[in-house]
Amino acid sequence: MSTIVSDRKSKSPAAMSKRMSSKLIRSLMPEQLPPAEMPSCEVRPVLKGQKALVTGASSGIGMGIATALCAAGADVMINFIGDEAAAKRVAEQATHCGCTHRGKAIVHRADVSDEAHVREMFTRMRDEFGTIDILVNNAGLQQDARLEDMTLAQWNKVVGVNLTGQFLCAREAVREFKRRGVRKEVSCAAGKIICVSSVHEVIPWAGHVNYAASKGGVMLMMKSIAQEVAPWRIRVNSICPGAVRTPINTSAWETPEAYNELMKLIPYKRIGEVDDIARAAVWLASDEADYVTGASIFIDGGMTLYPGFEAGG
Ligand code: BGC
Repeated sequence: MSTIVSDRKSKSPAAMSKRMSSKLIRSLMPEQLPPAEMPSCEVRPVLKGQKALVTGASSGIGMGIATALCAAGADVMINFIGDEAAAKRVAEQATHCGCTHRGKAIVHRADVSDEAHVREMFTRMRDEFGTIDILVNNAGLQQDARLEDMTLAQWNKVVGVNLTGQFLCAREAVREFKRRGVRKEVSCAAGKIICVSSVHEVIPWAGHVNYAASKGGVMLMMKSIAQEVAPWRIRVNSICPGAVRTPINTSAWETPEAYNELMKLIPYKRIGEVDDIARAAVWLASDEADYVTGASIFIDGGMTLYPGFEAGG
């Protein structure tokens, strides 16, 4: 059994990349294919003046999203559960990103599966920032086991954080969005919720039934909330990452053998990076995505394209 928590003490993406350099990744690619290049994208202040909460933001995808929202001009609360020092480093890094329009960042410890903690977190959000415009429901973890070995505690923990946690935070956010209404000076929507789901909201995953069930739940929870709150000009969407280089899935990419195996599942032939997800989060939170609601956006290099069928069927 492995227990991998996305919020655990982690190395920065840059440090992790060093373990497996792009040179090594390239050497693993068949020669006739072009090398995997990362895009270089302009950072624009599309979230200027907005107030955002990112859960599970002391590492991995949450860290990347919090940093990107801040660079796009939002003030960001960085929620964490275990590692305060890591959360503070993210806050520091987010506010010193070199962009003149960057927002402020504060850290807040809370267990998103605990109703009282979530209420307190939203109260602090109002005390510090006045309100909330963007909720990124990111906190999530894996506790993997074969079905017959999976304990009820493992099931409850994963469903509690990944699904119930997203419900509790979404409920508080919607209450505040409705209370406050549209702030025309920052956005034409009254609020935006981004749920970080997974390709495993549609791809079954043996040995991870608690995780896949939680993400399948996120899919219909997100769409049902989106339908319910759309008339109030509240947009609710999911980002569904594939394999992204973070501490939650180190075993899937850290050795050349594991990376090669992983590439069999990824038609685009490179692992996802946190920035791939963060750019989408900024766009979804911005008015550029104003007509997008109830959507599951897969950012997975084609993992959901049934790559096993490339040459079969
Ligand atoms: C999981 C990762 C996994 C990826 C693709 C994510 O949701 O957290 O561990 O590598 O899906 O399977």
